[in-house]
Amino acid sequence: MTIIPDKEHLHIKQQRPCALWLTGFSGAGKSTLAYLVQRELISLGYRTHLLDGDIVRRGLCKDLGFSAADRNENIRRIGEVAKLFTDAGLIVLIATISPYQQMRNDTRALFSPGEFIEIFIDAPLTVCEQRDPKGLYRKARAGEISQFTGIDSTYDPPPAPELHLHTDQDSAEICAASIMDYLYQRGYLQ
Ligand code: ADX
Repeated sequence: MTIIPDKEHLHIKQQRPCALWLTGFSGAGKSTLAYLVQRELISLGYRTHLLDGDIVRRGLCKDLGFSAADRNENIRRIGEVAKLFTDAGLIVLIATISPYQQMRNDTRALFSPGEFIEIFIDAPLTVCEQRDPKGLYRKARAGEISQFTGIDSTYDPPPAPELHLHTDQDSAEICAASIMDYLYQRGYLQ
């Protein structure tokens, strides 16, 4: 994944801050979609920030592993940071597995009504496992890593997300356009 240079964050528009919370299995396409949507928002002049689980886990959350307690703490920190960024007026994109419904509900509770947009990036486990972009499913199946989401750690599918996207059926471009449509229709974008 590429980081968008600061100089592209120019020509800032009036905007309604929100947190676009992308949840789903590893390999479902969360980072890809968050990046596509961020690019589009920036090209339209909106001010954004992307919090990606893989990147946050290299810094802010590098002391955490993948036990239930550590994942809860990971998401608690990411949620608090996302809230700080929305308070600063940004549209924040969050790409984390965030596997438990309780943690996503607790995070939603930090935000004002309408500020937290839960987006289920859905693809069957078999598809994510075939994609295996980082080779981690293979390692999990081989017993080289444990507590892997979908293999030996649970994922609660969101029962009522604001958006439910199927990356095994629709292209990344179509899914990104669905997120943009949602933002226009609900008045987040002009
Ligand atoms: S979360 O469960 O705490 O929300 P997060 O999104 O931050 O997870 O990090 C997930 C990323 O960590 C995956 O995309 C993958 O690259 C890596 N990873 C390493 N070990 C695991 C594991 N046991 N379960 C899930 N992801 C793992």
